Amino acid sequence: MTTLASVELTVYPYECDAFGHLNHAAVLALFERARWESLARGPGMDLFHRNGVVPVVRKATVEYRAAAFPGDVLRVEMVITHRGTTSWTGRQAAQRVADGVVIATAEIVFVCVDRAGHPAPLPEELTRVLGPRTPAHQAQRVGVEGGELAVEVRGEGMPVLFLHGFPFDRTVWRHQVAALARWKRIAPDLRGVGESRTTGGGYSIARYADDVIAVLDALGVRQVAACGLSMGGYIVFDLLRRYADRVSAVVLCDTRPQADSEDARRARDELAALARAEGPDAVAEHLLPRLVAPATLAEQPEVVTQYREMARRVSVDGMVGALQAMRDRRDATGLLATIRVPTLVVVGSEDQIAAPDVAREMAAAIPGARLAVIPAAGHLAPLEQPLATSRALADFLEELR
Ligand code: MLT
Repeated sequence: MTTLASVELTVYPYECDAFGHLNHAAVLALFERARWESLARGPGMDLFHRNGVVPVVRKATVEYRAAAFPGDVLRVEMVITHRGTTSWTGRQAAQRVADGVVIATAEIVFVCVDRAGHPAPLPEELTRVLGPRTPAHQAQRVGVEGGELAVEVRGEGMPVLFLHGFPFDRTVWRHQVAALARWKRIAPDLRGVGESRTTGGGYSIARYADDVIAVLDALGVRQVAACGLSMGGYIVFDLLRRYADRVSAVVLCDTRPQADSEDARRARDELAALARAEGPDAVAEHLLPRLVAPATLAEQPEVVTQYREMARRVSVDGMVGALQAMRDRRDATGLLATIRVPTLVVVGSEDQIAAPDVAREMAAAIPGARLAVIPAAGHLAPLEQPLATSRALADFLEELR
């Protein structure tokens, strides 16, 4: 990601309101002033003019975090988080120099238009300033405790978070991430998985949830519709417990609220021992027979191939850590009746791990929740029946818009 030159701006008395602090509308103006100032000190304020184009703001989202007062000096930095062919997105943060407090952050989406007002490709000089084009499917890297997560971020609109299960990575949701083009899709590889790079142990469901919040903070996203597949659902329960204000809606897919029984806990430890002794492939083969519907096993070899590839991208530490996290997770049965956001429960009709009966009971316990049973799918409904699963999600999300 490209970072533009940061600038320092002083808060003027006339920007403050009757309460004496920097007014919210003035914050937006201050972010704009910082962008022009940064241009003035870098490529020149006439960058757009000399290239025959105009930058138009299509969307601005500001998050106000702390008060600033006349005389405060704010350092404003801008990171380009997305660069397309005709548009780009920048995230700005204004931080008080004296004490390091972040006053506000903003996400601004720009479109490059020609003099007739039509979207136009970014001129070459502008592409040099903004940095390389963001490849369609390339993951962004977001810092979390002990490393970085790889996070696929696509599109604009209401943010939808996709949390994968075990032993998968973000690509388990790839069909939905591709299909739900009217929403902003955010799909991280959890720690120890896929392209994420983290060190250290200490895996827990709460830690995954903390990582997810760090991702949302880094992206400047306040609230999401959180979709969790199986273990991803366990993380959604924890988000609802500890970060309820960050969740606007919930999709619980092939998951269950109960904690592990004693037998299940023992089985987790045996699987962790297998992961250490023989690696991810052995774990993947052990789980496969109960993972997908018989028809998927027989007729969709590509789904099984993708499953094996995903499992291979989970590190041994990541596998052992996830197994320990799931083994020690809290029971969420009591939480269900307290869920106050729109909820969709999705289950494969042949899910042997989080069975349809469990999904039915879960939906019945959550006020107003809906249930979608996906025919001819097992525990991997998003991959086994991508169209039906995407349709169920789109119908649900559409009603929230
Ligand atoms: C998953 O898909 O995430 C796992 O099957 C969940 C579990 O084993 O409890």
